[in-house]
Parts: sequence; structure tokens; C-alpha cells
Amino acid sequence: MKKTIGIIGAGNIGKAVAAHLIKNGYTVKISNSKQPDTLKETIAQLGNGATAVTVDEAAEADIVFLALPWSKVKDLTQLTNWNNKIVIDATNHFKPDYSVEDLGGRNSSDVVQDYLKGARIIKAFNTLAAKILAANPVEANGHRVLFISGNDNEAKQQVSDIIKNIGFAPIDLGLLSAGGKLQEAKSALSLQNLIKI
Ligand SMILES: NC(=O)c1ccc[n+]([C@@H]2O[C@H](COP(=O)([O-])OP(=O)(O)OC[C@H]3O[C@@H](n4cnc5c(N)ncnc54)[C@H](OP(=O)(O)O)[C@@H]3O)[C@@H](O)[C@H]2O)c1
Repeated sequence: MKKTIGIIGAGNIGKAVAAHLIKNGYTVKISNSKQPDTLKETIAQLGNGATAVTVDEAAEADIVFLALPWSKVKDLTQLTNWNNKIVIDATNHFKPDYSVEDLGGRNSSDVVQDYLKGARIIKAFNTLAAKILAANPVEANGHRVLFISGNDNEAKQQVSDIIKNIGFAPIDLGLLSAGGKLQEAKSALSLQNLIKI
């Protein structure tokens, strides 16, 4: 039985990922900043396998996907006991004016780690533009690449398996301190759309 994924954020990225997961047999609990009934249309579009929930309920899933603005991640600290939970961090550390926040040389997922104590943070799904992420990942007889980094190998393996199961090709960039840096907003791999043949 495939795991349930809790998605926090139901905008461009949250909906694109939810659609891939559902198409490939996962169950998704998706939330936004409001009450679940505001997501009726989204649930109708996503179809069977998707349920609209509160942010608290989404955070209860074994694997939680962050698809909300960077500036809001700090609001999630008290939502649940994050210890040992796998958290897929798709955020980019843009400020509301789309300049990049100065993190004093730290990578953005390390800062997310500070907010979500004990979580197993895996950075992934943040380098493609939402429209490309939403498209069919099988192209030119290959699979669209998703970069992934994280400090917990077992969690990284689980997220790599999900990435493969939904049709993408994971490329492991190692620890957050190295890979996370390469993946983050305005870095070398940001917005690169590659197909692994
Ligand atoms: N768009 C891209 O091309 C792209 C690419 C890579 C990575 N990213 C990153 O992915 C994240 C999401 O981007 P997006 O384009 O999907 O944004 P978006 O379309 O603006 O959607 C953001 C979602 O987050 C929800 N949200 C805001 N504050 C929240 C809170 N405190 N708790 C729960 N949900 C909250 C919003 O809820 P409401 O609908 O209720 O406001 C909305 O559903 C960002 O960090 C972005 O940097 C985006």
C-alpha cells in the first residue's frame, strides 16, 4: 500500500504534485491557508484519491510535502510533532517581492530544519517551473529529472522511490549543505529542465 502524502499548499506546485501522485496510486491530503471547503474545485479536478484537509491534518501524514511560500514555513513549527517525519521541501526562499532572502550563507532547507525540529528534510521538486513540473514527466523516451538532497539516507530513498513511481528520474546531490545549495533559488540548477535518457 502506497503511503499517504500530506500537502501543505494547494497552489501551482501543490496541485501539480498532487495530480502526479494520484495518477500513480498515492493518496493525497491537501490543504491551503483556509478551510478545506475552499478546495472543492481542486478536489473535483484531482479526482479520487484526493481529500481536502486542514493544515494540521496534512501535517499528520507520514510524509509531508511543503508547497507554500517560504515566508510561511515558520508558521508550521507548532502544527505537529515533526520528529522523524519525512518532509519534502519544495520551497524556494523568495521574499514576497521575489528577491532572495539573505540567509547568511546557509541553505534554505537548513533553515526549514530549524523550524521543523527533528524532521527528515528532503529538498526536491523546487527546481522546475510549475508548468513543467505539471507536464508529463516522460519525454523524448526519457524521464524528467528531479534533483534531490537530504541528510537522512533512508528518507531520501523513500522520496527517490516516490519520484520514480510518478515517472521522474531522481538525481541525488548528496547532503543539504552541498546539494541543497545547488538546488536552491537562483542557483546553478534552478529552473533546469533536463531529461534523463
Ligand atoms: N511556482 C513555481 O514555478 C515554483 C517552482 C518551484 C518551487 N516553487 C516554490 O513552491 C512553493 C509554492 O509555490 P506556488 O507557486 O505553488 O505558490 P502559490 O500558487 O501561491 O500557492 C501557495 C499555496 O500555499 C498556501 N499557503 C499560504 N500560506 C499558507 C499557510 N500558512 N499554511 C498553509 N498553506 C498556506 C496558499 O493557500 P491559499 O490558497 O489559501 O492562499 C496556496 O494554496 C513556494 O515556496 C515556491 O517558491 C514554486
